[in-house]
Amino acid sequence: MSIIVNGSGTLFTLKTLHSVYQMKVDDRGFLRHLYYGNEIGEEDMSFMHVDYDRSFSPNPNCAFPVRGYSLDVIPQEYTSCGLSDYRVSSFGVINGDGSSAAEFHFVSYEIRKGKYQIPAQPAVFDEGGESETLAITLEDPVTGLQIELLYGVFEAKDVITRAVRIINHTKEPIFLTKAGSMSIDFAYGTFDLIGFHGRHTLERVAERTPIEHNVKVIRSRRGQSSHQHNPFVILCGRDATEDFGECYGFMLVYSGNFRAEAEMDQFGSTRLTLGIEPENFRWKLEPEEVFDTPEVILSYSSRGLAQLSRNYHRIIRQNIIRSKYRYARRPVLLNSWEGSYFDFDEKSLLKLAEGARDLGADLFVLDDGWFGVRNDDNSSLGDWFVNEDKIKGGLPALVAKVNDLGLKFGIWVEPEMVNEDSDLFREHPDWALQIPGRGPVRGRNQLVLNMSKPEVRDHIFNMISKVLKESNIEYVKWDVNRNVADLYNEQLSPDRQGEVAHRHILGVYELLERFVTAFPDILFEGCSGGGGRFDAAMMYYYPQIWCSDDTDAIPRLAIQHGTSFGYPISTIGAHVSASPNHQTGRITPINTRAVVAMNGTFGYELDPAKLTEEEKTQVREQIRFFKEHYELIQNGSYYRLTGIGESYFEAWEQASEDQGEALLSIVITDTQPNAQLIHVKLKGLDPAARYSMEVHADVDERILAIPDYPGTSQLKEFLDQEGRSYQGAALMSGGVTIPWIMGNYPALQLYFKKAE
Ligand code: GLA
Repeated sequence: MSIIVNGSGTLFTLKTLHSVYQMKVDDRGFLRHLYYGNEIGEEDMSFMHVDYDRSFSPNPNCAFPVRGYSLDVIPQEYTSCGLSDYRVSSFGVINGDGSSAAEFHFVSYEIRKGKYQIPAQPAVFDEGGESETLAITLEDPVTGLQIELLYGVFEAKDVITRAVRIINHTKEPIFLTKAGSMSIDFAYGTFDLIGFHGRHTLERVAERTPIEHNVKVIRSRRGQSSHQHNPFVILCGRDATEDFGECYGFMLVYSGNFRAEAEMDQFGSTRLTLGIEPENFRWKLEPEEVFDTPEVILSYSSRGLAQLSRNYHRIIRQNIIRSKYRYARRPVLLNSWEGSYFDFDEKSLLKLAEGARDLGADLFVLDDGWFGVRNDDNSSLGDWFVNEDKIKGGLPALVAKVNDLGLKFGIWVEPEMVNEDSDLFREHPDWALQIPGRGPVRGRNQLVLNMSKPEVRDHIFNMISKVLKESNIEYVKWDVNRNVADLYNEQLSPDRQGEVAHRHILGVYELLERFVTAFPDILFEGCSGGGGRFDAAMMYYYPQIWCSDDTDAIPRLAIQHGTSFGYPISTIGAHVSASPNHQTGRITPINTRAVVAMNGTFGYELDPAKLTEEEKTQVREQIRFFKEHYELIQNGSYYRLTGIGESYFEAWEQASEDQGEALLSIVITDTQPNAQLIHVKLKGLDPAARYSMEVHADVDERILAIPDYPGTSQLKEFLDQEGRSYQGAALMSGGVTIPWIMGNYPALQLYFKKAE
């Protein structure tokens, strides 16, 4: 049993394989958070907590005359508000009388088999009765406002999900001003906070900072989860490393404005809250109406960050992704964007597709520029019909020709946006988000369609469905290329305008749901100028997301490293592009670009005709190698072996869960003379087994020929040797040493296979 309740119905213990979460109703009816961490036997953890009369921490009315009881001090499971807890709160309300207080007391609990549902929102799903739900109802005795704290316990997966259902049982309309999905109080311990910050073309860079006596806020107000911050944060012990120490993950399954707050209070306890960003959020609830918050996925690891990441990788792969491509092999694609941008016609596209086929790709993707009169990024979004000037004979004919080459066909769309220079906008100017009396905010010269309006969603669905039905389209790249502003919906009353941002993203979910239901065989890939909407909620609709518009393999190392903390490799869209790179001008070997792109969904985004014959041979071999090791690369257990910038190389590893094989990848980022040798310890192998080792590298012959290169013979021997095998224990405890490699960003892969 994963949910245990004591005889008096006051102590709740949630158990997963390697974690325990405990809370208790106290004498005054408040639900206290007692514990989250490693195994504790059957203990009631109340003994850890001692109440004191703390000056300047007032006592709630229900505690009178006791002075040693204050909401400002006790660890809570979800906060009340406006009644003397001065720490960050998870909840805010304006009651019918205009007051802003709520005090949540325990009413009842219920245990249900399986996972609770959140209507119309993405969430972790239960597959075959693997979870249990605990629902705890709390109520404000003065107004009658109720909240239901929902917990989904996935015992075998070391995951607990949380969400909150707010029910207006009061007699008047109320306004929610903050509706956090969770809060948690750690009474003891000093923590670091790891967040993932960035910008367009540099997303999800891991940043670790200590939590001190202030409030740290990580948030997005951009209408999307954003390039700048990700709705995933980790709290970890100051001593935690990849393989050691306590770590807690909190991942919001939400793609809109969010806020995470972490505060260390005056007595050293740490509170973390996570949910919808409260700024500009104001949700009206009529009597008996309900508001459901998005969900948070919590996980705990006592064995460092790597295990925490693997917990998230598994739950996303198995319980968030629903597509038929959850387990089915994804095609290796060639995308037209960096190969031709807006400059193409039917003939040149077919040439690209032939090139793709010749290299061994499975899917040809026609990116932006095929619709309306779109020859640059200033027009036509919203006009989802083919531009026959560019593609003579229309899409069906082109798709058939690409299919005849033996390739699947995929297409780019940006359904949530509109250009003013489009038929759609000319016919329906009121469909774009705009505040009456103000000119619109423009981004990439485009406006955001108001997805909180059902007629907009209907129209977009019908228009794009027609395109998808007319031809054999098997892949869709769904892009979003600006942030949201001008929040307004004239169909709602003025006191409901604070609902538009959330209603907009709920509308996006509804539209996506319609597409994935109507086209279950299409592989959808998300995108938002690269990784501007890279979150678990989106993965509920599309199993992979283009990770960044920076296709340069070297900065990609930091982007993909940061992304891997929360998200599995199979979700990380990554392509080999041309050199010099179009974002940075950097020149890198094609082998290195492939090693990095293989740490993701893997594909190409270049014009094959511009490759040399030698490069083409290398690409064919890369695709063959990727396909051969697809399972290991996409679904193996993931290990980050270096931190970004810690050394002059980066390394990572995938090991199969059964320990039968492993792939070690190494990229040298800063070649040095007379360098310290690269030495890496493997992880996740069977210590008792022997493993053969295959080396895959492309060391430039010109470099090996440099007369003074002192390592030539060692390196040649390392690259050429065959039939090597080593004990798993030796590879993990001793490690492998790579002879000194020179050159521009060389990379290599070592493949280990357990001897039969
Ligand atoms: C965004 C995407 C790119 C490409 C362009 C097309 O920037 O991230 O991959 O599709 O749009 O305009």
